[in-house]
Amino acid sequence: MIDFHSHVIPRVDDGSRSSAMSIDMLKAMKSQGLSTVCCTPHYYASQHSPEHFLKMRDSAFEHLLKKLPEDLKDISLLPGAEVLYFPGMAESEELESLCIEGTDLFLLEMPFRKWSEREINEVFMLLRSGRFKIILAHTERYFYYQKDPQLFRELQFEGMVLQSNAGFFLNRWTKHKALKLFDGGFVDLISTDAHNTEDRVPNMGAALELIELRCGKKAAEALIKGGDTLLFRHLNSTNGK
Ligand SMILES: [Fe+2]
Repeated sequence: MIDFHSHVIPRVDDGSRSSAMSIDMLKAMKSQGLSTVCCTPHYYASQHSPEHFLKMRDSAFEHLLKKLPEDLKDISLLPGAEVLYFPGMAESEELESLCIEGTDLFLLEMPFRKWSEREINEVFMLLRSGRFKIILAHTERYFYYQKDPQLFRELQFEGMVLQSNAGFFLNRWTKHKALKLFDGGFVDLISTDAHNTEDRVPNMGAALELIELRCGKKAAEALIKGGDTLLFRHLNSTNGK
């Protein structure tokens, strides 16, 4: 089972604050059945060039790898980024370097407000460019602002993968909405978006249990299999180190 979205690399963003915390997060992930974890710190174009970000991320990632205990060495860790939309991104030639390593999977975060026509058009341009496969991070956070679910259907139709956070299914106030979106076909993937061991913890196991309980075993299995297939189909030999 794969986690496509996590903040497990220490001290690069608002995620894990130490190697010890990252190790605890990874232990929890492993105990929940995760075999591959994409490590996707926030990338803000207003703060860093891709080159600077990658240097910082890779150095923290290498440091974490050196600290990993033996019993975690069988988890596959893939560095990536959660890239916040920025105007003009469709013209940027450096975006490929921010894909999840060894793949052409690109984790995109959109602004938490109603998107402008320009923003929507630019995302469609990126989708149609065929440069990479776009995963939309925590899709549930945008539904409130965009209102019309048809937009998300159109994004899916153009090949976007809609990712929801596991926590969306577990919070008592959002659980109902999460299951409704899941039933409606608006959840292609779930991921932890785990930040720490306190309030944004790795929680794939509990979310899948809930989905199995409420939607059936086949639905939960299909979700896991969908993630496995997505990664398998988008592995490449040109993007990785
Ligand atoms: Fe995130």
